[in-house]
Amino acid sequence: MDNANLSDIEIVKGKPQSYVAAPPAEVLVEAKKKVLFVASEAAPFIATGGLAEVIGSLSKALAKSDVFDVRVILPLYQDIRKEHRKDLRYIGNLYVPLSWRNQYCGIFEYKAEGVTYYFVDNEYYFKRPGCYGYYDDGERFAFFSRAVMEILGFIGFYPDILHCHDWQAALAAIYLKTVYCLRPEFQHIRAVFTIHNIEYQGKYSLDILEDLFGLSYRNKNLVEYDNCINLMKGAIECSEAVTTVSPSYAEEIKQPYFSYGLDPIIRRNEFKLTGILNGIDPEFYDPAADPSLFANYDARHIENKAVCKAELQKMFGLPQKPDTPIVAMVSRLVAGKGLDLVKDIIEQALREDMQFVVLGTGESTYENYFSDLARRYQGKVVAVISFNSDLARKIYSGADLFLMPSRSEPCGLAQMIASRYGAVALVRETGGLKDSITPYGAGGNGFTFRDYNANDLLYVICEALAVYRDKAEWAKLTKKAMETDFTWSTSSKYYEGLYLGLLK
Ligand code: GLC
Repeated sequence: MDNANLSDIEIVKGKPQSYVAAPPAEVLVEAKKKVLFVASEAAPFIATGGLAEVIGSLSKALAKSDVFDVRVILPLYQDIRKEHRKDLRYIGNLYVPLSWRNQYCGIFEYKAEGVTYYFVDNEYYFKRPGCYGYYDDGERFAFFSRAVMEILGFIGFYPDILHCHDWQAALAAIYLKTVYCLRPEFQHIRAVFTIHNIEYQGKYSLDILEDLFGLSYRNKNLVEYDNCINLMKGAIECSEAVTTVSPSYAEEIKQPYFSYGLDPIIRRNEFKLTGILNGIDPEFYDPAADPSLFANYDARHIENKAVCKAELQKMFGLPQKPDTPIVAMVSRLVAGKGLDLVKDIIEQALREDMQFVVLGTGESTYENYFSDLARRYQGKVVAVISFNSDLARKIYSGADLFLMPSRSEPCGLAQMIASRYGAVALVRETGGLKDSITPYGAGGNGFTFRDYNANDLLYVICEALAVYRDKAEWAKLTKKAMETDFTWSTSSKYYEGLYLGLLK
């Protein structure tokens, strides 16, 4: 009973030498399998992308079953939202060894909706704006991962499953199998590693293996790839199971086109790889209750979506035409999102009766391109170069068609959110886009095209606009998109099965 605490112990009167543990709650917790998520971000505390949303919503979904005690550990960044920071409870501190360093580590705790969160505090590493992009990110996340391992004893929670997400948490799995594996409390722990995006692998010079990561040269082979330290590769080697965020992406990353060099490692570890499609939190993204919207609606009472559209047009200074479709993109403005295709054909598409709205930030070529397009097509095109989740929600609710023509997309959440808000998704058939959106022509919930080709994109946009003109047909399609189950209800079962399989 490693969580024992004096208030849980009941002294049995008259028998001073013996005691019994207070039963129900604690016993139940003990019976649950313990899962610890290690991640560099988690909604609602800190989010730069889909990773945070998945950590937030998957942990909640798993905690709902009575099988798992789910906890999440992340760095205490300066940017953790104020409204959450005030509720964090300080539970202690310790010093974390990292090679020759010995660094302070404060631990804060927060509990919500069945999930316990821990925050790793060290101002030198994390009291900076944002989460990533510093010259010493390798050291920052090595400290974080090493702190995770040290904290387990302190909080009395040795998980059955240590589930590490993306390269920033990779070292936790690596430390488990190199530094900590001989300690009895760690020997039962099984490691799961999830690849949210294979593009970011955590690559460093081999020179810092000992000095910075505190790994012995005996373990060099585990993390070495292409003459570098590759933390993602190390975590794949050190984990009993590897998952990625959609079944199609699990296949794709076995090929060089998608793998950013890691396909030989993926193929070699194919036996431990599964693709599990992400879900979204249906309460967080609920057009029937979303306070950001101009009006609320759902699939059965969709009339207010027209109000959202009219208000969006008004806000953007677009003509308030109910029958002109709004085609939208909410995206990071980077090449991988298929923007070169959009650039190639958008002016041809704009000859049709449509309005085009883009929201996002990213590479300056695309930011400039879309701003210029909006200047040239005033009253038809709007480009908002910023990121603002309130505005994103207003766009999902006002739009009719949502474009996501990515070159590669591990999972993608925007196509699911858009569909739930009744903006029919038009996607390229890759990764999670292919697994969540099926083509209209085959009775599906959206529009798709296969090859990464601008003419195919244009063709399918025109097909969608033609269906839009058929009111009854479009209403049916919108309803179908909105009613597609994008929740975790099925996918979290796959994780449960995976964990239980590893614990047999
Ligand atoms: C990454 C991927 C995205 C995925 C998200 C959550 O951001 O690029 O496709 O949806 O992780 O897994």
